Amino acid sequence: MPDAFPEKVSSLVKVREIIYPYYDKGIEEELLNNGVEEVFSFGNTQLGKYRVIGKGKNGIVAYMGGGKVIKIRRSDSPKESLKVEAKIQSLAYPVSPRVYSYGKNFIIMEYVHGRHLSKSESIDVIIGLLRAAKELEDKKIEHQELVRPYKNVLISDKIYIIDYDDATIKEKARNVTSVLSWLKRVDLARKYIKGATIEDIIRELLVSFS
Ligand SMILES: Nc1ncnc2c1ncn2[C@@H]1O[C@H](COP(=O)(O)OP(=O)(O)OP(=O)(O)O)[C@@H](O)[C@H]1O
Ligand SMILES: [Mg+2]
Repeated sequence: MPDAFPEKVSSLVKVREIIYPYYDKGIEEELLNNGVEEVFSFGNTQLGKYRVIGKGKNGIVAYMGGGKVIKIRRSDSPKESLKVEAKIQSLAYPVSPRVYSYGKNFIIMEYVHGRHLSKSESIDVIIGLLRAAKELEDKKIEHQELVRPYKNVLISDKIYIIDYDDATIKEKARNVTSVLSWLKRVDLARKYIKGATIEDIIRELLVSFS
């Protein structure tokens, strides 16, 4: 787990250094216009000479200090803008990390000091994830990436669902069935679709865990 006080142990780097994989003037200008000049070289992922919190297909996530991270749009990202992602993520709070501000090329959000979901989790974590998935459904958010949830779930004092870049808004949003199929409980997914409540599903899961 990373250090709890990264400000004390890591150095600052100019934000242009973590525009990836190639420099983009538009991205740098938007960051500077929004007061983001430097970030901390901190985290478990190496990016050239520097360290960052995370790296995906669409963004680089870096620590800003004060418990905040910034997801910077990759210069080669297939997505033109992070604005829709940021709006859906804001709606998803408190299941998602809180969004503080955003633009076409960045999302500034709460840093979750935790770990990723793993293959074998306690029943408490599983129940927490199912409830979080249900909370998104109540807000008509379908996450789309919860069948393989490892990289999209962070666990600290509670369960966070992150990365809303494929999420959509729809009347019958489905997330619980995705988590259940990850758990190889298609039987329960079927019951849920037929009208069983989340509490019914949790009760049945508890029986098979005990
Ligand atoms: N708020 C956060 N707090 C802590 N770590 C985070 C946070 N947001 C993202 N990360 C880390 O950064 C990684 C990349 O973030 P994210 O999944 O949003 O990027 P992405 O480019 O959309 O990834 P993908 O290629 O999976 O779509 C995450 O897997 C996670 O490890
Ligand atoms: Mg993504």
